[in-house]
Amino acid sequence: MSQNAPAADDIKFAYWVPNVSGGLVVSKIEQRTDWSLEYNQKLARTAEAAGFEYALSQIRFTAGYGAQYQHESVSFSQALLHATEKLKVIAAILPGPWHPAVVAKQLATIDHISNGRIAINVVSGWFKDEFTSIGEPWLEHDERYRRSNEFIRAIRGIWTEDDFTFKGDFYRFNNYTLSPKPVQKPHPEIFQGGSSRAARDNAASVSDWYFTNGNTVDNLKSQIDDIRAKAAQNNHSVRIGVNAFVIARDTEEEARAVLDDIVRHAHVEAVQAFGHAAKEAGKASPEGEGNWAKSTFEDLVQYNDGFRTNLIGTPLQIAQRIVALKAIGVDLVLAGFLHFIEEVEYFGKKVLPLVRELEREREAQPA
Ligand SMILES: Cc1cc2nc3c(=O)[nH]c(=O)nc-3n(C[C@H](O)[C@H](O)[C@H](O)COP(=O)(O)O)c2cc1C
Repeated sequence: MSQNAPAADDIKFAYWVPNVSGGLVVSKIEQRTDWSLEYNQKLARTAEAAGFEYALSQIRFTAGYGAQYQHESVSFSQALLHATEKLKVIAAILPGPWHPAVVAKQLATIDHISNGRIAINVVSGWFKDEFTSIGEPWLEHDERYRRSNEFIRAIRGIWTEDDFTFKGDFYRFNNYTLSPKPVQKPHPEIFQGGSSRAARDNAASVSDWYFTNGNTVDNLKSQIDDIRAKAAQNNHSVRIGVNAFVIARDTEEEARAVLDDIVRHAHVEAVQAFGHAAKEAGKASPEGEGNWAKSTFEDLVQYNDGFRTNLIGTPLQIAQRIVALKAIGVDLVLAGFLHFIEEVEYFGKKVLPLVRELEREREAQPA
């Protein structure tokens, strides 16, 4: 058991699986990472030994900007489960190309094979060209989330009920009984992400976990307060995961210099192409609060605004900021790194023990 393994109320850690080529920053800077299976299996073993509880795989059906090669998320997640013993792997699923009956069946089998370590991240889609290039209809922003809402309810129903019947606008089931049901009870965890009103409303009503892009503590707090208030009205409980691109170095100057280098070497055309597609998706949310709606060029160099969370500095600075995130209601930090294996190791050795120490100190303080 890793010394960094979380107690029940401890903040949890996930890392982004680099199953897509080019790393997590759209920059020509050297990134010691790789999208291959061999690299990823080693990374998964390193992460579980370092105290990471989850790994999140990504789904892309096509490139369009950088990210030229993309391994499929469910099959890749399964390979990572085979290489590990405790790590939970969250496979990204895109409603549209995937039907909930296929996902429920496939993931129930993987749950058995992995002894209860699979989870899903239902992504609602932001990349129009991806959908049109595989002949999938491209729904309006809020319609995509209405479909995801039905998708999640359908999967949960199939996983937990016999004779499941569902009459939605997107999916229909008639007395369907999945057998065997998943090992995990009540069912494998269902993550779902975004920032827009529609994404938050799904978090407040159907998902187990809400993933959001990197952001400042103030902006994250208002999102979390909004979701928790709505979830309480719905008698629903949801946990919160936040993206962060972590640059931990022995000195703050070194860490800041790495960020400057990443941005200075940004692959300008690829960032612009990604930004164009992403902003269109962000603007498409009627209230204009979607992911990337307010992202600057620098923010977009990291796919999910991970610099904004500011986990950039010394291990102590980063641990203090993580504990500050916990104080506003964050349950999990989803971390990306420049040089994955070596930085995951450093994070496990230098940052995570400090986080656990600070958590114990806070618990010891009188309420
Ligand atoms: C942590 C996280 C992981 C995501 N992973 C993927 C992914 O693998 N594939 C994908 O197409 N979209 C992914 N997304 C995109 C979201 O599902 C969603 O489509 C996007 O954030 C648009 O959000 P909006 O409604 O706030 O505009 C991810 C988003 C977040 C926050």
